[in-house]
Order: sequence, then structure tokens, then C-alpha cells
Amino acid sequence: MPQRTVLHVKGLSTSFNTPEGIVRAVDGISFTLQQNRCLALIGESGAGKSVTALSLLRLVPVPGKITGGQVCLEDCDLLKLPTAAMRTIRGKEMALIFQDPLASFNPVITVGSQFVETILTHEPVSKATARKMTFAKLTGVGLPAEQVYHSYPFQLSGGMRQRAAIALALALQPRVLIADEPISFLDVTLQLQILGELKRQLEENRFTLLLITHDLAAASTIADDVAVIYAGRIVEQGPLQQVFGRPKHPYTNALLRSHPSFGRGRRLEPVEGPSPSPLHLPAGCAFHPRCPEMLPCCCNAAPELLGAAGEHRVACYRFNTLGIKSIGTEAVRA
Ligand SMILES: Nc1ncnc2c1ncn2[C@@H]1O[C@H](COP(=O)(O)OP(=O)(O)OP(=O)(O)O)[C@@H](O)[C@H]1O
Ligand SMILES: [Mg+2]
Repeated sequence: MPQRTVLHVKGLSTSFNTPEGIVRAVDGISFTLQQNRCLALIGESGAGKSVTALSLLRLVPVPGKITGGQVCLEDCDLLKLPTAAMRTIRGKEMALIFQDPLASFNPVITVGSQFVETILTHEPVSKATARKMTFAKLTGVGLPAEQVYHSYPFQLSGGMRQRAAIALALALQPRVLIADEPISFLDVTLQLQILGELKRQLEENRFTLLLITHDLAAASTIADDVAVIYAGRIVEQGPLQQVFGRPKHPYTNALLRSHPSFGRGRRLEPVEGPSPSPLHLPAGCAFHPRCPEMLPCCCNAAPELLGAAGEHRVACYRFNTLGIKSIGTEAVRA
């Protein structure tokens, strides 16, 4: 079946102008989200995953600012939309699930009322219909609808709350669902249940999922494609089997070796060296001070993300001969 691109992100950059200096949290990233597919955005803490999610929805907090790029939902560049139109897109066309499911709900309103309010804000339906839709959505994610409908968010267990948050995010049948660490607060059994729920919803409904996670096992359970982000830039990207099975970037390699599920039969090796300070990123490839395979040219300019094989792309001079040429043969020979 041909893939249909729902969201096309091109050269997106977001910075924070802080008293200490400019933090380039997201630095010219590009990717596409395809209908009925899941892209996992993975990388260590501070890499820019959440800022990417917030940028897509134009929810970057002050002093953050989107400084460039395009976020095209089908043919519409969201970064150029008036604020009111963007508000309609949020919730209706694009929804966000937070790490803490409590953040998805108003604590002083029952879960049912929040569903009904959300539906009534965006759909021309009666209250009775909105109520019926809510029951169907709650049942659809395996929740006891009657009980959950009348509960306040704090009265639900963590797993129930996250299921309800998924149902709320999907209530208006958005085209794009962004889930930022949706399982990291839950115990392992619940993590598997929630991932299973997301996967089932992805298969049954026609939307696209951007899953943001530290958890490579979670990514491998549900994702079709993977983008690895380091210091605000995507360093490797492609189909899951290729990126996890034949990683090309030394950072992806280190990340895979540092993860329990992928370190089977091998000693776990943490990614060596400290994460770079966002205020003082190294020149060239930001990973070069930690890279076991560094070339002299890596300190000069950041390598571009170029094709390694098929859809598999990598930003590393070791694999990107064009990049090496553009830096000059002197640097390579040095
Ligand atoms: N409000 C803010 N003010 C200044 N800098 C910020 C702000 N929010 C994020 N940043 C910076 O942007 C960079 C990216 O942060 P982001 O929250 O996207 O990381 P992350 O990949 O989501 O990390 P984690 O896995 O810990 O959630 C970090 O260097 C962070 O310090
Ligand atoms: Mg985050």
C-alpha cells in the first residue's frame, strides 16, 4: 500500500534565548510522518525531543521561539497559520499525550465532562451525542465507561488515567497523535498494556503516531520508523529494522549498547562521556568529543543527514562520503 505523508517537517529550528545565552534546542530537523505508521523519536535527556513536540503544536514556552522551518500538515504550513486557526488544529487535527496523564486533565472536572466539553468545542453535535461518543471512546480503550465517566482524574489509577488520556486525545479523530514519554511513569505491565493500546488504535484508526521515548524496547515494540536525535539534530533515521539492526551512527550504536533489552549477551556500556552543554555545543558534529570513531573533519562542520541505504539516512562522515568531500581531502587525510 503506498504510504501517505500526513505531516512533513522541514528544517525546523527552535531556540531559547536565556540570560546565559542561546540554547539551540532543535536545530534544523526534518522528518515525515506517514498515515498508519509510527515514528519513534529517541535520544538522551535534553536532546530536544519534547521541544520538537511542542514546536509541532506551536506550544513552545517563553523564552523559546521557533526560528525557522516548516511544519506542513498535508499542504498547510502550520507555522504560518493565524493563532485562532492553530487552536482549532490542536485537539482536532493534532493531539498530544503527556508523560504525566494528569497533565491531560483538569483536576476539578470529571473525566466525562472533559470529554463532552472537548467534543462540543470542535463538533456540531448535541450534548447527548457527545455523551454517547464519550462512552464509546472510553469503552474503546478497554475502560469501564460508566465508572470512568463520573470519576475525577485523581480517582483513577495511573494506567486507567493514561488510557483515558489516549481516548481523550483520539476523541476527535486527529490525523496526528504525539505521545511524549507516554509510559515512563507506569510499571512494566502497564507499560505493555498502554503500548498495546496505542498500537491497536494505530492499526484501527487512520492517524499517524510520533512516539517520543528514551525506551528503545518501547520503540521497537510499536515503531515502524526511528529518528535518533542528538543535541537538537537528527543523526540517524530510517525503518526500525535498519536503524536498530544495522546502526550506522556511533551515537546510535552507543545508545543501543547502553540499553538492557539490546545489550543481551553483552556487557552494558553506558554512552561514554557527558552530554554536551546546550549553551556550548561542540563545533562540527556535536557528538565528536564522545565519539570512538571520530575523524579530524568531524570537528569542522556538522555532517548532513544523507542516504546510507534506501530510506536509511545518517549524519556521520564515516558513512557520508559526500560530506567528507565537502569538508576537503586535507581534513580526511590529516
Ligand atoms: N523553558 C526552557 N528554557 C530554556 N531552555 C529550555 C527550556 N525548555 C527546554 N530547554 C532546553 O532545550 C533542550 C531540549 O530540551 P527537551 O526538553 O526537548 O529535551 P528532551 O529530549 O525532551 O529531554 P528529556 O528526555 O529529559 O525529556 C535542553 O537543552 C533544555 O535545557
Ligand atoms: Mg522531554
